[in-house]
Amino acid sequence: MDSKIGTRKRIAVIPGDGIGQEVIPQAVKVIQASGVGVELTNFDWGADRYLRDGTTVPPDGFAMLARDFDAILVGAFGDPRVKTNIHAREILLGMRFKMDLYANVRPVRLLDAALCPLKGVEPKDVDFVVIRENTEGVYTDAGGVFKQGTPDEIAIQEDINTRKGVERIIRYAFEHCKRHTKLDGSPRNKVLMCDKSNAMTHAGGLWQRVFREVSGEYPHIAAQHMYVDALCMQMVRDPRQFDVIVTNNMFGDIITDLAAGLQGGLGMAASGNVHPGKTSMFEPVHGSAPPIAGQNVANPFGAILTAAMMLNHLGMTAPAEKIEAAVLDAVRQKKTTQDIGGTLGTRETGEWVANIVGG
Ligand code: NAI
Ligand code: MG
Repeated sequence: MDSKIGTRKRIAVIPGDGIGQEVIPQAVKVIQASGVGVELTNFDWGADRYLRDGTTVPPDGFAMLARDFDAILVGAFGDPRVKTNIHAREILLGMRFKMDLYANVRPVRLLDAALCPLKGVEPKDVDFVVIRENTEGVYTDAGGVFKQGTPDEIAIQEDINTRKGVERIIRYAFEHCKRHTKLDGSPRNKVLMCDKSNAMTHAGGLWQRVFREVSGEYPHIAAQHMYVDALCMQMVRDPRQFDVIVTNNMFGDIITDLAAGLQGGLGMAASGNVHPGKTSMFEPVHGSAPPIAGQNVANPFGAILTAAMMLNHLGMTAPAEKIEAAVLDAVRQKKTTQDIGGTLGTRETGEWVANIVGG
């Protein structure tokens, strides 16, 4: 029997570690307040569970998620008590790799000028999206060490780039560009590929060739290129120029932290790990932030905006828009946590947004 039959979308919720356990309940509260017909199922995967019984992902865990759920809402993984970070690797990278969620979609939007550290930058100036390759690159853990602990030690970290992987992420970026508009309703029309092909010639060469080929199929979309170092500089000097950026796993990781800075910090940034047609996973960009965990100070907006992104992905655009509008309201009225200038706690901020959404 197909357990996905029926109208109620089924969502697996995995808060994880640290502030994940604080921000995800707020996102859940807001989803519930929006009145959408979804069925939420909580999973305790994370450091506590691992330390208790050694389980990172239960047997059949990924197959179960893919089979029984329409989407997954995740907090963050990482706990100082688990020095190896093995559980984070197995759960988070496991979902990305084993469920083949190859497109990491990270919208970069400035909700209010006050949140941006750059002067003279308005919300309309920061509205781009980073499409990060999510299943290859240096994150596959290929490589090794030799003569460890000696002065002659050698460490090799392989950067894996497959024709298939590069092509599908670049095509995803063009398709995303074609199908999405900016917040002001204007069409997206540029895809910029970011690499370091001047120094990393083999991998960069593949990205360059594939980008040229795939861009040829989209004559109405401008194809641009920047080296990752130059891109970082431009993102700070003039973020207005960006529309859709596509890049590899590591560069995507790095530039989206910088991009989060433009939006008001890591507490504001949302993301989706997507494979069209498969059960996809949504998570705030930030990690588990151990130093501030358990203090009711973490900003829940990244998680709440992630929930909106997930609902959008599931076709529930009206509640998603309602949630985004409520977060914008909260930012404008300074009903926020301290990291972006407010005085509320994590829970109080989530409740404020939930009240607006439900009201
Ligand atoms: P982090 O994102 O947890 O924290 C970086 C900085 O941003 C810290 O100063 C933190 O206090 C602040 N911050 C992050 N989220 C915030 C929020 N919602 N509200 C207010 N401030 C916030 O990254 P960090 O410190 O590099 O990593 C901490 C742990 O999280 C590590 O174990 C790391 O491996 C893990 N991590 C997990 C990720 C995931 O599960 N997707 C992503 C990044 C890191
Ligand atoms: Mg990161």
